[in-house]
Amino acid sequence: MQLNLTKNIIWVCALCVMISYIVPGRVGLGSGVEEWDYVEVREGAHLFYWLLYTTANVTSFTERPLVVWLQGEPGVASTGSGIFEQLGPTNIEGRARQSSWVQHVNVLFVEEHGRYARNNRQIALDLVQLMEQFLKKYPAFRTVPLHIFSESYGGKMAPEFALELHLAKKRGRLDCQLKSVAVGNPWTSPLDSVLSYAPFLLQAGIVDDDGYRRISRLAGELAGLVYAEMWLRALMKASEVQEEISSSAGGVFIYNTQRRVHVDEVYRYGEDPKMSHFMRSNVTRALGLAKMPVWMEQNSTVFERLGQDIFKPSNHKVNRNLLLEETPIQVGLCSGILDLFCATPGTVSWIRRLKWTRRSEYAKAPRTAFRIEGMLEGYEKHGGRLSMMMQANLGKNL
Ligand SMILES: *[C@@H]1O[C@H](CO)[C@@H](O)[C@H](O)[C@H]1NC(C)=O
Ligand SMILES: *[C@@H]1O[C@H](CO)[C@@H](O)[C@H](O)[C@H]1NC(C)=O
Ligand SMILES: *[C@@H]1O[C@H](CO)[C@@H](O)[C@H](O)[C@H]1NC(C)=O
Repeated sequence: MQLNLTKNIIWVCALCVMISYIVPGRVGLGSGVEEWDYVEVREGAHLFYWLLYTTANVTSFTERPLVVWLQGEPGVASTGSGIFEQLGPTNIEGRARQSSWVQHVNVLFVEEHGRYARNNRQIALDLVQLMEQFLKKYPAFRTVPLHIFSESYGGKMAPEFALELHLAKKRGRLDCQLKSVAVGNPWTSPLDSVLSYAPFLLQAGIVDDDGYRRISRLAGELAGLVYAEMWLRALMKASEVQEEISSSAGGVFIYNTQRRVHVDEVYRYGEDPKMSHFMRSNVTRALGLAKMPVWMEQNSTVFERLGQDIFKPSNHKVNRNLLLEETPIQVGLCSGILDLFCATPGTVSWIRRLKWTRRSEYAKAPRTAFRIEGMLEGYEKHGGRLSMMMQANLGKNL
């Protein structure tokens, strides 16, 4: 009897081990399998991660890559709009979204809490620390291809994170298979973005010569501040540029210049009361996060702490001797050609100035059209481990 009981216990344990191997993760919100945790990466500084295992029809999740998603805009939580408006399987009403990255790959959403980083390098090091802990806890991901994706401000964060992750692996601190880093509408060289505003708006017929001159003048002043490394004043000047655009261009939607806007529409990036409610009630309850700080779509403290860093260019991070030169990582940039905020011409401008050994391969590569089911969707250009994709129909994903 005793023997049988022991035998049964052994069987049950073996079964549990097998099940936990075949079906990883927990059930959090919705029907998918997930993992999440709130981890300390520096004294008093925490990162929250939420892993959504792929729902692809595969025998093991390890057959699909892992994508780390960092939200753009300092302080905007990637678990909110990232999961429920951009990449995840359902929206905040619980309805299936039309398409989801989780159908194809495992996605790890990451956001910052507590003692916010003061500069880009700190952000990168915090993220490396998170990955070290994550890969220790989920060793199966050590051999799975890893890709880092982000947008907008991620144009600063993601390349530096990729570089630091590569270096951490080289030093034997962690093991991962980092294959690529890609950013949509990157805020990599902020000044190049701002200098592109006036010509972009003039050429698109959105402002006239007077508007062009007013915006150019302010952008020129901002350039002076950036050259003088007066980062906070540059940031304040950028608000003046935006106000001028708003008044010269009748409140054009800066993330997609073709989007129709109503005169009463007040759009603030990262603010949606319905989303906040959903995150603070449903998600907090489902994942048992009551002990975590209250979820915020955008905590302005992050922005204030990073103030000195926002206008610092970080294109040198994809410059010679760094990402493109010394790592095997593929670098991808995607640009919605209707976006003004990180306008395509500004991005093209800093790419043109980048120096790396295989630079001419990129420069000489033809730009080709890409189509999906016969429809023209945009253009692409690849060379020297750098790829650029221009999306014809979209600004930011709005
Ligand atoms: C999943 O893949 C297997 C093997 O390729 C196939 O037999 C099965 O029909 C697929 N299931 C679904 C729901 O697509
Ligand atoms: C969120 O919670 C409310 C209240 O419990 C519930 O009515 C609603 O269906 C939940 N939404 C989702 C998407 O689960
Ligand atoms: C934003 O985060 C900081 C640091 O964690 C916190 O002290 C502050 O209360 C948060 N802001 C708001 C408005 O909750």
